[in-house]
Amino acid sequence: MTLATLHLPVDRDIGVPIFRQIYDGLRGAILEGRLRPGQRIPSTRSLATDLGVSRLPVLSAYEQLLHEGYLVGRTGSGTFVTRHIPDHLLRSRAIGRLKPSTQNPGGVRAHPVLNRPTPTSWSLPAVPFQIGLPALDLFPRAPWAKLVARQIRAETPEQLAYGDPAGLRSLRVAIAEHLRTSRAVRCVADQILIVPGSQAALRLAAATLLEPNDRVAIEEPGYFGAHRAFRAASAQLVPVPVDEAGLNVAALQRRGSNIRAAYVTPSHQYPLGMTMSASRRFALLDWAERNQAWILEDDYDSEFRYVSRPIGALQGMDASDRVIYIGTFSKALFPAARVGYMVIPPSLWARFVESRFAFDIFTPTIYQRALAEFLESGQFARHLRRMRSAYLERRDALLRGLERHCADLVHVHNSDAGLHVTVLLREGVDDREVIAELGRRGLAAFDLSSTYVGPVQKHGLLLGFGCATPQRLLAATRILGDVLRERV
Ligand SMILES: Cc1ncc(COP(=O)(O)O)c(C=O)c1O
Repeated sequence: MTLATLHLPVDRDIGVPIFRQIYDGLRGAILEGRLRPGQRIPSTRSLATDLGVSRLPVLSAYEQLLHEGYLVGRTGSGTFVTRHIPDHLLRSRAIGRLKPSTQNPGGVRAHPVLNRPTPTSWSLPAVPFQIGLPALDLFPRAPWAKLVARQIRAETPEQLAYGDPAGLRSLRVAIAEHLRTSRAVRCVADQILIVPGSQAALRLAAATLLEPNDRVAIEEPGYFGAHRAFRAASAQLVPVPVDEAGLNVAALQRRGSNIRAAYVTPSHQYPLGMTMSASRRFALLDWAERNQAWILEDDYDSEFRYVSRPIGALQGMDASDRVIYIGTFSKALFPAARVGYMVIPPSLWARFVESRFAFDIFTPTIYQRALAEFLESGQFARHLRRMRSAYLERRDALLRGLERHCADLVHVHNSDAGLHVTVLLREGVDDREVIAELGRRGLAAFDLSSTYVGPVQKHGLLLGFGCATPQRLLAATRILGDVLRERV
């Protein structure tokens, strides 16, 4: 088989990581029948030579295709196209042929969110430095599959009926218990609303609390998912700087009194990683009460803290019910579950449930039931304990690698918690260029500059360590060092 039959053009200038191009090319060739079931494909070494790229992106692409079942490896005899292409893959071939139209159909208004490209690294596979992904390799898939399978069998017909817009009662009880004991959240099950992830929670909060053109304070730099949710609700973003103690509340106060809501990540500021100090927390709560504003607290990854004890949620300090607390199972379990939750102040409960109904009525119940059992049986607590030590090991490997290969090239901003470490780059080094080059070498970090709404203040990299083994992280820091050294 030759490259010509494979049609695998690799272009370094289109901003798509090389491994992604190779993955897409091979997958396309399999689905379109240019690579036949059972056919042997070239070794990674010879394909890398033919394409004129390093072996790492080819290995990453093969690994992903093996993982997804398009390829099978036979020890000693090579890599082959699977003989069993499942139906859903063939269906995706049909979908893959539908090219999105580049023309604007008549009457469709430009949309403030849809006009922006989705952050490219978001849906890439679990390669070193990928942000937002937990240790998918360590998830206890067998016991989880048992729980889900029981729900799929639907042992009672009621399991197939509509669910409660607020969420499954037993799950809400289990989450309330977990939040009270491990996050110092003040809540009862009647305040817990189950949603399909924290992105949905942000969208729901924006739709429920904001009118078009309302002003929403956001951390600068901050979480782009929140920016998108507020823009989609036609709100005006008001960036407020953060410093070592978190959101600068004095700067927030100077932005005027007509701010409806503030979005914050007090336990682990996204993306810089610091914790909001107690005095800032009180000042923020005071600001909200004086201005009759809402605080949206995004507590996305605080189960994982490596120094000191876990820090309680801001919500637990709130005596006047201004905080809407948002949490997710995307980091503690896995993002594909799409289960998140909100703690709603009693005064807003009826409005939120009504809004929830208007959106999509309720969150699919299969995972809710499985999750309730996972929490009730103690498996969730056990999983968190195991993950904390695994992440500590992964974080330490990343820090060791940075020390060894990038010591004079990056400054580690904060590494106390969560699943990524943010590093600042030397003056004059452009983080987007670094990201593009890392992508060409099979790695997927995220640039700090994309997290600013206003002028970019600092260039840096968000380095995810959750989804890669310590060995792969160490190897990746060596590549990062090479890429950075070429730029100073
Ligand atoms: C700050 C922050 N909030 C929320 C999320 C997304 O959570 P979900 O998958 O529940 O929408 C992420 C994902 O990485 C995040 O970084």
